Amino acid sequence: MTSPLSPIPADSAQTLELAIILPTLDERDNLAPLVERIAATLGGTGWEILIVDDNSADGTADEARRLAMSDPRIRVIQRIGRRGLSSAAIEGFCATAAPFVAVMDADHQHDPKLLVDMLACVKSGEADVAVGSRFAEGASMAEWGRPDREKLSSMANTLARKLTGVDLTDPMSGYFLLPSALARAMVPKLSGIGFKILLDLLATSPTPLRVQEFPMKFAARLSGESKLDRAIALDFLAGLYDKSFGRVIPTRFALFGTVGMMGVGVHLAILYACILVLGTNFGWSQTVATFGAMTFNFWLNNFLTYRDRRLKEPGKLFWGWVSFVAACSIGAFANVAVATTLHDRGLHTMAAALVGIGIGSVWNYALSSRFVWGR
Ligand code: GDD
Ligand code: MN
Repeated sequence: MTSPLSPIPADSAQTLELAIILPTLDERDNLAPLVERIAATLGGTGWEILIVDDNSADGTADEARRLAMSDPRIRVIQRIGRRGLSSAAIEGFCATAAPFVAVMDADHQHDPKLLVDMLACVKSGEADVAVGSRFAEGASMAEWGRPDREKLSSMANTLARKLTGVDLTDPMSGYFLLPSALARAMVPKLSGIGFKILLDLLATSPTPLRVQEFPMKFAARLSGESKLDRAIALDFLAGLYDKSFGRVIPTRFALFGTVGMMGVGVHLAILYACILVLGTNFGWSQTVATFGAMTFNFWLNNFLTYRDRRLKEPGKLFWGWVSFVAACSIGAFANVAVATTLHDRGLHTMAAALVGIGIGSVWNYALSSRFVWGR
């Protein structure tokens, strides 16, 4: 009998070598077969699987715990109140003791068989990062879904090459492997927003990373549906902004502010349309314009600012809209109260109005990111 504190003899346990991070959102039925495929492929290698679930409604976390009960190599991180593919990967980087870490989709679109060669390549020092590529010579795609995706994707890839200085065919790939210490070293500088985690790693590294691409067959999803919309270019631009100015004005707030300014345009357009075309009086027109602008802002923020937490089901959309209108009303009240006070104390009209708008916006942003898209 060894005492609990004596080191585990080398032959009694497999030395942990590779952690496979599986970010999940509603992937319950995909988990068991995927774990089986990974285990079959990795065989003698010391591995663990980290399932990072964002509190999926379909019970993915419970299914993960069920699997982990009979196999301690499976671990579960259930996150409540946080969302996002990138941040789930980062969570995994920091939660493992394995020297190498891989990120892959949990929906069977990535073939686990590639893990063996990817690990060997990075382990031997041949490359810093091994990437499963949908576009490298020899790769194939089971389905594209929409034809514009390919175009957008190749545009984004060209930009990405310029940004990272690394020549690779698929910087948006969600399948890659690297030393976990290397990943962790970059975590403080990663944005964590969206799903372009690989691109973020490549762009963050102080020296260009040496990348080896592995052509892959991008299979069809086994079960469930894709969580990412196809606005790859959008995610990409947000990432660019985040890297350059994100620390001065956070990306989300910048988007929220931009949407707000567009909302002013919508407000004025509706106001004048009511007065000039429908002939309603100012009070009614202003009311209609206010609701119109709030609805527009809600819709665009849901589509853009909070893409990664987008409300989709009709019920959630309705309550989201109601709470957004409520949040904005409080913001508007703060706006008017502060602006009037400042104006009464002699501040110039324009300056008082701008301060009011500024305070109202920060307030709206804080309330709605907590209560509308907070989850
Ligand atoms: N924890 C967590 N949180 N997991 C998430 C989230 C989230 O907010 N959103 C998506 N996932 C998980 C999914 O459950 C899946 O396992 C994986 O991340 C990829 O999501 P999919 O919804 O399957 O993405 P896709 O197949 O449309 O997108 C593929 O192509 C992208 C580039 O075009 C993936 O390979 C992406 O990784 C890749 O960036
Ligand atoms: Mn997928």
